[in-house]
Amino acid sequence: MNMKEQLENIRLTAEIELGKITAEPELEAAKIKYLGKKGELTAILKGMGSLSAEERPVIGQTANTVRGFIEEKISAIEAGLKEKSNALKLEAEKLDVTIPGKKRGIGHKHPLSIVLDEVKDIFTGMGFQIATGPEVEWDYYNFEALNLPKNHPARDTQDTFYITENMLLRTQTSPVQIRYMEKNRPPIRIIAPGRTYRSDPVDATHSPLFHQIEGLVVDKGITMADLKGTLLAFAKRLYGEGTKLRLRPHHFPFTEPSCEVDVSCFKCGGEGCPMCKGEGFIEILGAGMVHPNVLKNGGIDPEEYSGFAFGVGLERLTMFRFAIDDLRLFFENDLRFLSQF
Ligand code: DAH
Repeated sequence: MNMKEQLENIRLTAEIELGKITAEPELEAAKIKYLGKKGELTAILKGMGSLSAEERPVIGQTANTVRGFIEEKISAIEAGLKEKSNALKLEAEKLDVTIPGKKRGIGHKHPLSIVLDEVKDIFTGMGFQIATGPEVEWDYYNFEALNLPKNHPARDTQDTFYITENMLLRTQTSPVQIRYMEKNRPPIRIIAPGRTYRSDPVDATHSPLFHQIEGLVVDKGITMADLKGTLLAFAKRLYGEGTKLRLRPHHFPFTEPSCEVDVSCFKCGGEGCPMCKGEGFIEILGAGMVHPNVLKNGGIDPEEYSGFAFGVGLERLTMFRFAIDDLRLFFENDLRFLSQF
């Protein structure tokens, strides 16, 4: 076989082999085989030294033609493979913008917070400020200063968790009254919401942890009429314009006189129904005129100033507000319950 025939042979086999290529690695191998430094064409070109002066340009031209042919073929295959892999890539990266998005669950306020925020709005709207106090409290602030000396029988109804003999988890928000009076002069108008504790077993209406909202107003010439007017405005805002108030005499050591405050049943409007147990009224809070001893313990002269105070259970308010019949629901974190608000 002369060189010309060899070259023609290379062209033919290259055409057949290149025609079968379907993937990148095969193409790389073919490049090396035909065009590489140790490739078949190169080998022939190296042997051209033995040719005569007439033959050399002819063979050289043929070799170049074959080389050009192979190069063209290879770059065509290269382009085809590239196109194919791009199409595959695109297919894999395809984004279907019509698929519905994943919904992210957004939380919302706990029912107790909903009602607490309403209560705060109502009272701040009447010029009250929000005060706070510690949940771990001294016996002095929780009892003594509120006219409940050691051995006072009313302490029995407020058994709690003791840290030491004189330090405890507060049973009521009333100690904030004393703490606030110690640091502020009248006129005082505050509500003090917060956690309170009692060692009560858990049932539908009791929990060792619950919440109260304390109210305190101290100024010159404050009377029971201010107490009633303020609480009536509060009850109307919370339970509706038609709400009526009923004050029943009661006893609290830190107020004199003291009362329990009922609101007309928001279910039956006062007629009597299962909600109010036929009473027409529902008790919502305790209140009274601040006892002179309590004012004194807060550093305020009872001869010059008078005041009223009240304490509301937040769980109770919320249960009535949303007709919830079991207090345990507030603390169990059951989403079937919580997601209803
Ligand atoms: N601290 C009382 C309790 O937990 C509620 C209360 C009653 C608070 C009368 C007051 C008040 O400020 O004047 O039972």
